[in-house]
Amino acid sequence: AYLREKKNKKINAAVFPVAGLGSRFLPATKATPKEMLPIVDKPLIQYGIEEAADAGITKMIFVTGRNKRAIEDHFDSAYELEAELASKDKRDLLRIARSVAPKGVEFVYVRQSSALGLGHAILCAKPALADEPFAVVLADDLIKGDTGAVQQLITASSNNEGPVIGLEAIEPHQSRAYGIVEIRERIGENVIASNMVEKPNPEDAPSNLGVVGRYLLPYEIFEVIENLPTGSGGEIQLTDALAVLARRDGVLGVSLQGQRFDCGSKLGYAKANIEYGLEHSEIGNNLRAYLAGLVG
Ligand code: UTP
Repeated sequence: AYLREKKNKKINAAVFPVAGLGSRFLPATKATPKEMLPIVDKPLIQYGIEEAADAGITKMIFVTGRNKRAIEDHFDSAYELEAELASKDKRDLLRIARSVAPKGVEFVYVRQSSALGLGHAILCAKPALADEPFAVVLADDLIKGDTGAVQQLITASSNNEGPVIGLEAIEPHQSRAYGIVEIRERIGENVIASNMVEKPNPEDAPSNLGVVGRYLLPYEIFEVIENLPTGSGGEIQLTDALAVLARRDGVLGVSLQGQRFDCGSKLGYAKANIEYGLEHSEIGNNLRAYLAGLVG
């Protein structure tokens, strides 16, 4: 059953798949991964890394494709930039440049040579992982809330080692953009899923709960992915692997608190820039006045 206890589970590693084509964001993503697109002044991937680090994760594994350099360089030290800022005594900027990588965190890069789907991307991280559960963060799903989404999953899992997925209630017409869960059981706000379907038509959707880009996965997911047939869109789908585990043992689905922005879409990305801009210490007030002028 789902509730197989394992004491003192700690999630040590997170996988960040950043090898997608990002085709909905061309031309911005022609030479840059979409995870490097900034929300105000910080790239999406940095929000994701901070969320994982806040949840106690110390090993960050990137699954990169072409264009991996921008991400590697971002989390590396930038000697010339730092020397220049130091010589000009720009201390605040120097502090920002140096604090991109959280303290005590290790970065590992693995390569997905062609974009064969999210399930395949995660399989590429296998050699970098120990035989223990790990988190997956899709940084283009930006979740703004008091507690980070990865921490919410860890808290809700309360030491169970089965898979845990982030969920959001969606409108029926949005079902074709999500993996949708079939509900076996409700536990307060959360559910145990008994199946999952990738991008169903509204009339075929088994519920209104869509999977968003945060997961805790058991190591055995690799064996499941390795044995999957190719799924929808000719890709190896993570949803299909999770569906196998859901049908077998159940998968815990956690209704995430906070506001989610689908930054893989232009509208979601624009909304995120406005919401984060309004809270930004430098531009918040001026942006608010500007927006008030636009609608007034
Ligand atoms: P998306 O479904 O958003 O696809 O991937 P995409 O290719 O990035 O974007 P579009 O649809 O072409 O605009 C979800 C996540 O999975 C990663 C992406 O980088 C993104 O974080 N991914 C997807 C991979 O790493 N490899 C893949 O083969 C597919």
